[in-house]
Amino acid sequence: MKVLVVGSGGREHAICWKLAQSPNVTQLYCAPGNAGIAQTAQCVDVKATDVEGMVKWARDHAMDFVVVAPDDPLAMGMVDALEAAGIPAFGPRRNAAIIEASKAFSKELMKKYGIPTARYETFTQLDAALAYIEEQGAPIVVKADGLALGKGVVVAATVEEAKTAAREMMADKKFGESGSTVVIEECMTGPEVTVLAFADGERVRPMPASQDHKRAYDGNRGPNTGGMGAISPPPQYTPDIARRCMDKIFLPTIQALKAEGRPFHGVIYFGLMLTPHGPKVVEYNARFGDPECQAVLSLLDGDLLDIFIACREGALDRADIKWKNQAACCLVLASGGYPLDYQKGYPISGLEEAGKSAVVFHAGTAQKDGRTVTSGGRVLGVTALGNSLEDAIAAAYAAARPISFQDMHFRTDIGRAF
Ligand SMILES: Nc1ncnc2c1ncn2[C@@H]1O[C@H](COP(=O)(O)OP(=O)(O)O)[C@@H](O)[C@H]1O
Ligand SMILES: [Mg+2]
Repeated sequence: MKVLVVGSGGREHAICWKLAQSPNVTQLYCAPGNAGIAQTAQCVDVKATDVEGMVKWARDHAMDFVVVAPDDPLAMGMVDALEAAGIPAFGPRRNAAIIEASKAFSKELMKKYGIPTARYETFTQLDAALAYIEEQGAPIVVKADGLALGKGVVVAATVEEAKTAAREMMADKKFGESGSTVVIEECMTGPEVTVLAFADGERVRPMPASQDHKRAYDGNRGPNTGGMGAISPPPQYTPDIARRCMDKIFLPTIQALKAEGRPFHGVIYFGLMLTPHGPKVVEYNARFGDPECQAVLSLLDGDLLDIFIACREGALDRADIKWKNQAACCLVLASGGYPLDYQKGYPISGLEEAGKSAVVFHAGTAQKDGRTVTSGGRVLGVTALGNSLEDAIAAAYAAARPISFQDMHFRTDIGRAF
């Protein structure tokens, strides 16, 4: 089969790397891809958000299957457009991808179906939002409704901070239309874990749990990033918690979406907080998380193409999904200054050496004058396995040692920051 993957980050590299192991994948393409992806797939010069261009390219080149990995094209309805053109596509349709694209929608869904999540109210009027913040007091969480590149959430320690956030979102339009509606919710406490799950519209098969590290610096300090590293599985996610999540969160969510006429086919991301009152949903995403994907897919022993097809066809009960009985760690090597200002175009050395003991997924790299150079904030995700979490973490750090580029920055406490 000719398969096209849409996207260009570390997540898409991991998906391509795993798909390339499927015997039924005869030709693999990635649009737009990056320098690392180019080693396993043929990169195609179409932007991930160019829905029309993607459909045209896929049709002109007779793709048999398209995997839409990032949030934006899913929210724009790329899967719907591909399917309408007769091209089988993996990922939720627009009406199901809304669980990520609208926090107000997902909160309402959870309320209606009794899925545990933080108490909340939704606002479209600034005055009402400010009054609610005053009434509730701090700490309190203010969230822009729509996609905001992971920057639309403020966990406010004071009432003033919360009011400023609401003003910036609703009056100053800091996130454009994404902030015309805001969700204001109760501040929960407890460790956060991610559970990615395959869903086929009706059934849900959770992958091993994982844990991201959002802050730029050690000790969970500094600005929020797209993710500085991930481990799988986190020790806090016990089998007992997993059972509760399946019964109270995962299955009810998939069934709720089905009941609403929005069957979810694809990978669903459950952002969970293990609160003193049990696990609760922080948010849903409609796709693999990055870098959780790199850690979790490294543990998959099955055929990813078969699983994707089963998700699309409503046949997950027949899918052969096996996991290595190991742990994984993905360590992100970033450009100095990220997530704020940073330089691009620095040559990267040590990739070959590192690749001998780990899988080095590329996130922001490009090819220039025959060399691999940095081209983004997150540059690489060095991913290693171990028989214990400690071993996996040590292996990822050891493998990353030979890699260097100017101003390279990484956290030294992935998997150990509490
Ligand atoms: N109700 C809440 N209580 C405490 N922390 C929260 C709450 N909601 C979100 N957060 C924190 O803010 C982060 C970002 O919020 P999230 O809803 O995941 O939005 P996004 O990933 O779209 O930015 C979460 O990972 C969590 O650390
Ligand atoms: Mg999140």
